[in-house]
Amino acid sequence: MTHKKYRKILVTGGAGFIGSFLVDELVKLGYQVRILDNLEDQVHQGKKPKYLNRNAEFIKGDVRKISDLKRSIDRVDAVFHLAAAVGVGQSNYQIKKYVDTNIGGTVNLLELLINTQHQIKKLITISSMTGYGEGNYFCKKDNIVRPPLREEKRLREKDWNLYCPKCNGEVTPFPTDETALDFPNSIYGLSKKNQQDMVFLIGKLYNIPTTVLRGFNIYGPRQSLSNPYTGVTAIFISRLKNDKPAVIFEDGLQTRDFVSVHDVINAFILALEEDKANYQLFNIGSGKGTTILEIAQTISSLLEKKDLIDINQDFRKNDIRHCFADISKVERLLDWKPKISLEKGLKELIEWSGNEVAEDKFSKAQQQLKSYGL
Ligand code: UD1
Repeated sequence: MTHKKYRKILVTGGAGFIGSFLVDELVKLGYQVRILDNLEDQVHQGKKPKYLNRNAEFIKGDVRKISDLKRSIDRVDAVFHLAAAVGVGQSNYQIKKYVDTNIGGTVNLLELLINTQHQIKKLITISSMTGYGEGNYFCKKDNIVRPPLREEKRLREKDWNLYCPKCNGEVTPFPTDETALDFPNSIYGLSKKNQQDMVFLIGKLYNIPTTVLRGFNIYGPRQSLSNPYTGVTAIFISRLKNDKPAVIFEDGLQTRDFVSVHDVINAFILALEEDKANYQLFNIGSGKGTTILEIAQTISSLLEKKDLIDINQDFRKNDIRHCFADISKVERLLDWKPKISLEKGLKELIEWSGNEVAEDKFSKAQQQLKSYGL
């Protein structure tokens, strides 16, 4: 297949959960693909994952080193910048690592785009719903409102709810669109928001078309089951595979917007190929909130460990209660829609996990958070 606009594409973080599926799809579409990845210990234990696409060129290197990035962009026409440190809680005590990787790595890339010869005609990155903090809520009296993060005192009293910041009345979750202001709940969220702003600023200033996808809770095969700092679906599977209960914080009725990695990859391809995506930020989610309790129940019954669940009524400081995406912009401009239902996506995830090693390091990660009072 021939593509007019781009031939060679760099995917930073191309050995990761999302990056590796993107590499597979780009190779399938006939692009020449190069991966830059540091094979981060926490995720890969320093080894190339077995799913790494053999038809892509692989450079082991780190976005924190400008020389590694420099050799990676040689003769490249478009860049997907996905390399990042991704643990939300962990970022609040490993600030330097998260800032150096997520902000510093992006700074290195932008410096090269400005100060060296290159042929890059498109830059696409991934940001996170964690940049928003709590999502939009609806108050019968005050309409759409954005409550701040919940106070620790209330959480200690096990009052998990949000209240209207204007009248203190009851609120219900409401879709969050791309115009919502950002109130990140973590250094990770802040770093992603910062990356997003820098990429748009420099892209517009130097006429390099840029697109940022704002991912909600992305799940699917290849998310490391031995990384306790990763998302909730992988953590639950890892616990259950080790015959330990899935630990649910709060009362389990907090919600997240779960979207399959395959749907995210479709959005990335549209972001690359459609000019309408240039200089745009798109929410990528399912458009619906699902409770964490429902996720635990579905995963435990698919693994035939029904109700091996512990609702522990504890909390992680700064966790948000609800946020789900308004996806009307990406539907309208790119004609993208999520196609994989949660039921189908979780089934796929469980099937994949059957042959995977899952080391349960959950308790260790919890102790670490607790030792910091988080
Ligand atoms: C997650 C991702 C983040 C991504 C974001 C996009 C991580 C750590 N988080 O953040 O990278 O950018 O989605 O939206 O990778 N929970 C439990 N038990 C557990 C773990 C979690 O009950 O063992 C609950 C949490 O309290 C929370 C929900 O599950 O309410 C989701 O937690 P988590 O998967 O860590 O995700 P986010 O903080 O939403």
